[in-house]
Amino acid sequence: MTLIKAVRGTRDLLPPETELWNRVEATARRVFARYNFGEIRTPIFEDTQLFARGVGEETDIVSKEMYTWEDRERFDVQSLVNAWTNVQINDRGFVIEGAIPYVLREVEKFGVRLILGRRNPEKPEFVAFGAKVTREAIEALSRAKQAIQTKRILPFSPDADYLRRFGPGLRLVVPAGLPAEDVDRGEVEIEEFPGQFSKSVQSLTLRPENTAGVVRAYIEHKLGETGLLQKLYYIGPQFRRERPQKGRYRQFWQIGAEVIGPPSAGSESPLRDAEVLEMLASFLDELGITGWKLVLNSVGSSTDRPRYIAALREALKDKAPQMCGDCQRRAETNPLRVLDCKVPEDQPIIETLPRIADYLDEESKAHFAAVLAALDACGVQYEVNPRLVRGLDYYTRTTFEFTHGGLGAQNALLGGGRYDGLSEMLGGPKAPGIGFAMGLDRLILTLQNRRADEAPGAGQFALADAYIAPLSDTQNAAALELARELRRAGLRVELGDGAFRLKKSFEIGNKVARAIVLLGEDEQRSGILTIKSFATGEQTKIPRGELAQALR
Ligand code: HAM
Repeated sequence: MTLIKAVRGTRDLLPPETELWNRVEATARRVFARYNFGEIRTPIFEDTQLFARGVGEETDIVSKEMYTWEDRERFDVQSLVNAWTNVQINDRGFVIEGAIPYVLREVEKFGVRLILGRRNPEKPEFVAFGAKVTREAIEALSRAKQAIQTKRILPFSPDADYLRRFGPGLRLVVPAGLPAEDVDRGEVEIEEFPGQFSKSVQSLTLRPENTAGVVRAYIEHKLGETGLLQKLYYIGPQFRRERPQKGRYRQFWQIGAEVIGPPSAGSESPLRDAEVLEMLASFLDELGITGWKLVLNSVGSSTDRPRYIAALREALKDKAPQMCGDCQRRAETNPLRVLDCKVPEDQPIIETLPRIADYLDEESKAHFAAVLAALDACGVQYEVNPRLVRGLDYYTRTTFEFTHGGLGAQNALLGGGRYDGLSEMLGGPKAPGIGFAMGLDRLILTLQNRRADEAPGAGQFALADAYIAPLSDTQNAAALELARELRRAGLRVELGDGAFRLKKSFEIGNKVARAIVLLGEDEQRSGILTIKSFATGEQTKIPRGELAQALR
């Protein structure tokens, strides 16, 4: 049998590595709390339109990397009715009875949707439709027949006369191929009709990033009406169908944060940008990550951007034909994205394209200068890179990345920037914002590289305080009780099994714990336990009441 493995680009995180993950996450929570951020958790999948509109149709993320599917409604009764009706009329030559609409109106409340006239000599039928055969549907059809025979609502016509005297045939149509429920069908004829009768209602996408989701939530919950800045952080998996390599996965984790609010709350201030960058520098320092580099740029406001894009488009007229297929298309659809191109042959051409820095208006220039001045004031080192545009369409003004040399090709530890127009792009109020997301997988890689250098052996299992070894099955229950007592006292305890021989208990205990506690018949009776420390080899007898203390 072929083994089922984790899907390419995804992976399992196991202890002891998960301890490191937890530590990094705990540090993030602690640091962000000092800056007064609160946690937000948004759904892992969203309406595809959110990313198309927010991140941008022409970005790599949206055009190539999203996990998107059509979500199906379970069952679409109308499509079954339509398909079935077509076959009756076109293929079988039956008539859907139009002459007795008042009968239909009368029995609709019993689930009857059509009356099928089969012409003489066969009788008319009440037809109901369902996702499957249920007792309710069968009973409802019988009641419809009863109602029509007992009520004096029928006018004089051959059909009506027939119905009154003999009653209609009853038919329940369900999709073929589904497991049928075992119910008494009475006089109802069940017809299984082949085909797919579910309706595609919504295109959904596994989130490739979290900013669009946070801004959607901001709009949906009217957070802007508080008049305050919203400072929100998140920790969770994101999904992009990228070519997997070291530091690049298809399911990866981000720790991110967003500061967003109405302009009156100060959301546009360059101080917000500098504060977020300073927080990131402090966070990396607190984790002990050294050697990071902050690179930043301004991509201009929503009024600078069209001027720059026009210039880019003009310059690309001559140059695009020598570039890759994607660039040729993007030169037309979204010239800014040409700058994200990774094709080596295109890089010299990209170098010659106009720079956004030359197209910033006075306000954007002043905003960027104020961000840099605040960074200087608090001593956060940076480098300005006029080519840093980042691969998402929502950015305005400040954009940034923190890189780390130890990561190789995927050297961006984190990225972020301002998105002053995103809320409006999603149909919300004006709500400028700035935020970042860091690749947790890459952060962990950096920490692991560093630890291997500085502290060999770090990141291994922490040993339990004690391994409890019941000496026979008779002591198993008592051993569990003892383990419970010690765990409640705050100790980390591993529990053995009475079926193990003493030798095996010592072997396992030595691997997982600092000490072994023996629990045999004598110990159980006397309440005096034998412990042996694996570090010193020392064996002692300890009264049960003092055990927790002795094991610490
Ligand atoms: P991003 O640059 O697309 O920005 O991703 C941010 C970080 O996520 C990257 O710097 C990288 O560390 C990590 N990352 C991205 N893709 C992968 C992958 N396939 N495998 C491992 N790590 C990856 C955003 O996502 C924006 N939402 C950031 C933001 C927040 N801007 C404003 N607010």
